[in-house]
Amino acid sequence: MALTEASEQQVAIITGAGSGIGRACALRFAKAGYQVLVADLDEATAKDSCREITALGGTAISHVADVTSWHSCESLVERALSKWRQIDVLVANAGVQIGGSLLDSTEADWDKILGVNLKGVAYCCKAVLPSMIKQGRGAIVINSSINAIVGSAGMAIYDMSKAGVLALTRSLAVEHGAQGIRVNAVCPGNTITDFHINTMAKKGIRVEQIREMTQGYALLARAAEPVEIANAVHFLASDEASFITGQSICVDGGFSVTGGG
Ligand SMILES: NC(=O)c1ccc[n+]([C@@H]2O[C@H](COP(=O)([O-])OP(=O)(O)OC[C@H]3O[C@@H](n4cnc5c(N)ncnc54)[C@H](O)[C@@H]3O)[C@@H](O)[C@H]2O)c1
Repeated sequence: MALTEASEQQVAIITGAGSGIGRACALRFAKAGYQVLVADLDEATAKDSCREITALGGTAISHVADVTSWHSCESLVERALSKWRQIDVLVANAGVQIGGSLLDSTEADWDKILGVNLKGVAYCCKAVLPSMIKQGRGAIVINSSINAIVGSAGMAIYDMSKAGVLALTRSLAVEHGAQGIRVNAVCPGNTITDFHINTMAKKGIRVEQIREMTQGYALLARAAEPVEIANAVHFLASDEASFITGQSICVDGGFSVTGGG
């Protein structure tokens, strides 16, 4: 992929951008000419994402951040502002997927999942909003999940966290629309990311086998590739979506219209 679409020098902060959908978003925004702050808990993977972007001629810096910490989210925003003086887009993507039924859940599960997926997303939004308000413009895209909409077994806390950020999407859209800030969400379906690849690798299952196992998923009979989610995220953040706010788009190959069957 050559970085040929560059037309603007806007700034995007992308959390969880060291891996999976976040990395695909970082590459997609860099491809569109954004200067990208690649934020992740994992320093090595964040740096890898930056290297991938700069090797393609894009601009990115890495930043170690833990979205569950308010101080860390503030530092993230300070880093972007001190480097580029503006923040046009936040992609609140960092998330953890921990399965387990409500009956089996532990206090640690609750703290971890809600800490990253719900509080972490809200903290990142809270941290970027003052600069967006000052600029009189900005776009936030939150990565929810199809699990926010369709029930699944053994994922109760994760599903709650993902439904919670859809409520946050609507609330922030209402509160900040008049200030020129749009807030939307994507609800991805099954996407073959590093998360799945690493989890399955521990069971001796290779990525080609994951693709085989997910054949037949949803109406398009396959799982998504991370870039397909990133394209939707980029669209929602771009001026092409200038009259869209408070919405969530299912990027799920039609999974949700089948009722999850
Ligand atoms: N893969 C899917 O099928 C799927 C489907 C729907 C929604 N999602 C959502 O997409 C997002 C990305 O998932 P993915 O599959 O790419 O996962 P992934 O595990 O490949 O990437 C998640 C990234 O977030 C980072 N991260 C975790 N905790 C963090 C923290 N506290 N602070 C900062 N960074 C942190 C990780 O280090 C990792 O780089 C998540 O919010 C996930 O819930 C994924």
